[in-house]
Amino acid sequence: MLKTAITEMFGIKYPIICGAMMWLCKPGLCAVISNAGGMGNLTAGNYQTEEEFRGAIRETRRLTDKPFMVNITLLPSLRITAEHHKMYIKVCAEEKVAGMEISGTPLDKAAGMGAVETLKRAGVRLFHKVGSVRHAVHAEKVGYDGIYAAGIEEGGHPLSDDVTCMVLIPRIAESVKIPVVAVGGIANGRTLAAALTLGAQGVMMASRFIATRECPVHENIKQELVRRQEYETTIFGRSIGLQGRALKSKVIEEILAIEARGGGLQELIPLLAGEKIKNAWEKGEVADAPLMVGQSMWRMRSRQAPGSAL
Ligand SMILES: Cc1cc2nc3c(=O)[nH]c(=O)nc-3n(C[C@H](O)[C@H](O)[C@H](O)COP(=O)(O)O)c2cc1C
Repeated sequence: MLKTAITEMFGIKYPIICGAMMWLCKPGLCAVISNAGGMGNLTAGNYQTEEEFRGAIRETRRLTDKPFMVNITLLPSLRITAEHHKMYIKVCAEEKVAGMEISGTPLDKAAGMGAVETLKRAGVRLFHKVGSVRHAVHAEKVGYDGIYAAGIEEGGHPLSDDVTCMVLIPRIAESVKIPVVAVGGIANGRTLAAALTLGAQGVMMASRFIATRECPVHENIKQELVRRQEYETTIFGRSIGLQGRALKSKVIEEILAIEARGGGLQELIPLLAGEKIKNAWEKGEVADAPLMVGQSMWRMRSRQAPGSAL
């Protein structure tokens, strides 16, 4: 039991929160992390309709009576529209989920202050994932309850400011009064302790949960990630203004080559399509699509269930 502002806020045992993972963070993995004393994540982008999304929240609640986070990602997407965002917000408020991880555009700018107020009235704790002090200060000003401070080490879409956790966490912790959760490269007790020392009240981990029994991806991918090292991820997508960190692979080499010669979005879209990525995770085809993963991959070599990973 470790007491921090985050464990107090949610009544959880450990200040360890799973980050959003498109295609992966579904009720099974989410609930097992919450049951183990951390906080699981349900990633809304996995659900296209209100019925499916509400069903996933209820399914998670059937599997755990503990709190969990719901992510909505407010970034450009070919599949998820502003209408989906509106629906996710409405359902989260109606279902009174414990907390939301919002990434990309701040909620007030994407959906208006009305959305922030509705969620707060429903008792939903709002956290924004940011990579800079200026974005953290904005989130605090509009009424968010906490900040996820995400360094360039993270999987997913690190901000193009490219600041590492070692610098970003203390900078954000000294700049806002609301609790800060450290994100990126964190994968065990030592890195949790380091994050707390830097001024965070908790940590987010995502990649670390991929090579677990409960994560719904093909065994080939788990085996591949366990073999890989911390230097085997790379940043791609800078040329289209949406950088991501993914596992080095044949398809990533192709993407980087297209970017280097000035090929544009149209040429990249077939390689970045969501369905292609979903298939790669499910069928275990490591070289078929960019697989998001963070430098925290270093810790996967010791594979354990989420419970023992905490
Ligand atoms: C497979 C995968 C998918 C992700 N999908 C999303 C997403 O849909 N939305 C989002 O905000 N972040 C996404 N992320 C980023 C994570 O939520 C988190 O910020 C990051 O992975 C933390 O760094 P770590 O992986 O080193 O722990 C994803 C990360 C991974 C590894």
